[in-house]
Amino acid sequence: MNKKDFPIFKNTKFYNKDLVYLDNASTTQKPQIVIDEYKRFYENYNANIYRGIYRLSEEATALYEESRKRVAKFINADFEEIIFTRNTTESINLLIYTFAKKNLKKEDTILLSVMEHHSNIIPWLILQKEIGFSIEYLDIDENFNLKNLEIIEKIKPKIISLCYISNVLGVKNDIEKVIKLGRKNNSYIIIDAAQAVSHISVDVKKLDCDFLVFSAHKMLGPTGVGILFGKKDILDKMPPFLGGGEMILSVSKDEFISKDVPYKFEAGTQNFSDVVVFKKSIDYLESLGMKKIEKYIKDLSFYTYDKLSEVPGIKIYGNRNEFGIYSFSLKKIHSHDISSFLDEDNIAIRAGHHCAEVLMKNLKVNSLSRVSIYIYNDESDIDKLSESLKNISKLF
Ligand code: ALA
Repeated sequence: MNKKDFPIFKNTKFYNKDLVYLDNASTTQKPQIVIDEYKRFYENYNANIYRGIYRLSEEATALYEESRKRVAKFINADFEEIIFTRNTTESINLLIYTFAKKNLKKEDTILLSVMEHHSNIIPWLILQKEIGFSIEYLDIDENFNLKNLEIIEKIKPKIISLCYISNVLGVKNDIEKVIKLGRKNNSYIIIDAAQAVSHISVDVKKLDCDFLVFSAHKMLGPTGVGILFGKKDILDKMPPFLGGGEMILSVSKDEFISKDVPYKFEAGTQNFSDVVVFKKSIDYLESLGMKKIEKYIKDLSFYTYDKLSEVPGIKIYGNRNEFGIYSFSLKKIHSHDISSFLDEDNIAIRAGHHCAEVLMKNLKVNSLSRVSIYIYNDESDIDKLSESLKNISKLF
């Protein structure tokens, strides 16, 4: 679509300027306008936000808040409903240690799925040890889709926390249906949209979820910026997560009064430079248009599936999907070896359990290789991948 906007492809010395980067579900590359924004910020605006009664600090604060507004608009949230964290994992942990800890009781049940990332399982298990609630998991059917959503009506989970698009299977879950069923049963809904926000237009008002979490670095933006969207009336009632810095109105020896949202949840010096830079990645995505991105990825994703299917001995764990995420095994070759062989042909993919061991056990595998595409990939990248995999297959 626009590889020339991403300097890594012409600069990186490790791949003779021929890098085929297919690990986008892990993190995305950065366009020049995002990289340039670091220089612009540090050369012109750097000062700690909120703390300074001087122009430089006020300007840095204004830029930080501009990013918040930009993110809010991007997912159709209100400005106070956007909290900046370090990553999706921290956004989920924030919710679990504030919202869930306050609301869950021993007799409650929460609902996850077997395809969740560890970030959406482990913190629940930690809290479960403390409170003792039950955790149910939605299973997947033979087409890798979540099955038996109707269980929501039976178990009436207090909280449902699910991924929008699986980082392993590339399936998009029927979140609209989950939310509809959840609403009927007074469940709170958390959506892990880490793999979704860069691929589809997300409208939190239309979705009517209570919380939605994602990361900037998977959408051409900087690392170290996570986003937590929460409905304001729920955020207002939640206790703070971390204490310190500018999250208080006042403090005495015995008590403190928190600021209103979103500041209540942003303790300590924030990662303000990266948040400011993040705005540029949203500008970039919007300049291309999310609809165009969706169509481009969809076409290339189908092409990828078809080319992968030609490789002798391949088994793809997932369907021909619209998001370009495909996990596979190849004969009995270990996924780490596949990744190393591909690397010799300048192709970067991810191999291992993909932080989804529950799913791996469900699929009865220890590890898988995974390709994940994004807007700078094209058919020639996929042709190289397919040729390289065919050669690897011949070796064994
Ligand atoms: N969660 C990221 C991935 O799936 C890191 O690769």
